Amino acid sequence: MKAIVQDQYGSPDVLKLAEVEEPTPKDDEVLIKVYAVSVNGSDWEGLRGKPLYARIGGLRKPSNKILGSDIAGRVESVGENVKQFQPGDDVFGEMADYRGGFAEYACTSEKLLARKPAGMTFEQAAAIPQAAVIALQGIRDKGQVQPGQTVLINGAGGSAGTFAVQLAKLYRAEVTGVDNTGKMDFLRSLGADHVIDYTREDFTRNGKQYDLILDVIAHRSVFALKRALNPGGTYFVVGGSVATLFQVLFLGPLIRRSEGKNLRVLAVERNQKDLAAITELFKAGKIIPVIDRQYLLREVPEALRYVGEGRARGKVVIRIEHDIQ
Ligand SMILES: NC(=O)c1ccc[n+]([C@@H]2O[C@H](COP(=O)([O-])OP(=O)(O)OC[C@H]3O[C@@H](n4cnc5c(N)ncnc54)[C@H](OP(=O)(O)O)[C@@H]3O)[C@@H](O)[C@H]2O)c1
Repeated sequence: MKAIVQDQYGSPDVLKLAEVEEPTPKDDEVLIKVYAVSVNGSDWEGLRGKPLYARIGGLRKPSNKILGSDIAGRVESVGENVKQFQPGDDVFGEMADYRGGFAEYACTSEKLLARKPAGMTFEQAAAIPQAAVIALQGIRDKGQVQPGQTVLINGAGGSAGTFAVQLAKLYRAEVTGVDNTGKMDFLRSLGADHVIDYTREDFTRNGKQYDLILDVIAHRSVFALKRALNPGGTYFVVGGSVATLFQVLFLGPLIRRSEGKNLRVLAVERNQKDLAAITELFKAGKIIPVIDRQYLLREVPEALRYVGEGRARGKVVIRIEHDIQ
């Protein structure tokens, strides 16, 4: 099969379209003919090997050479123990180790898959998994946002951010979206009540405070971050600098005890229940995957460059046209 292969960490130039062996499903896995796969911030991190957590699967070079985490396609075959899916089913979901999706075929655990409803395109389905589940858990489950609360989403114009803005508005919060200059109108169009251009204003230094902050691209110190929280407020780091992650892990509990402000790491738990919940929200017209651009498999390097340079508004999706790459 054809796949986009990464032999080393680096720029999009290290990526090559190559012929590789088609994967074989393990007992609990499903082999999927991939029709669409979306790009996440985690693909950009996995390409560059930065931050350091992006090298968990290989310190010097990636052990799984194929990036791509969120897939949608049709079941080709299933492992012995797979109970929920059979060949011909249309499904979407995540790759177990966030890799393997930029390919014509991919194998993943049935536990990370959901059925694609008829009214959802493969491109929309591929845009959902990682990003929407981060948003659902950050805003609804762990964030437990209440009507009228103030919510700030840092990195609001990217993959997870565009779902988080929509969900926070759905739960009737007052939403502030933070992203770069070019995405201000885009954030308003998603429903953000207020926008902050991070190139001009630091949300931790403008005197405003929030009940919930979802930080997709953290890089500030916990001391700056707690300033932006209301008393009793909650901050979640989703991704970003390892320094902030460690500060939140080790200083967060101290700040919680001394000041009652909750600074935590959002450890996303991947499951079918959340994919099903988002599917229902989609079917009800309450959540829409915002797809900025689509590319073909051979164009993955350009797609990653577009996301990495911060130009994407929402999601970028790779369409896989079998036999005509
Ligand atoms: N915690 C977990 O369990 C878990 C699970 C899965 C993934 N993750 C992580 O979650 C993150 C998901 O990111 P994503 O896919 O949403 O990324 P994305 O699509 O790249 O979006 C990031 C957004 O942040 C903007 N941005 C960049 N620098 C910023 C700054 N200083 N202030 C405010 N906004 C800024 C970017 O725009 P510009 O670059 O144009 O400015 C972009 O719009 C990744 O780090 C991934 O590793 C965490």
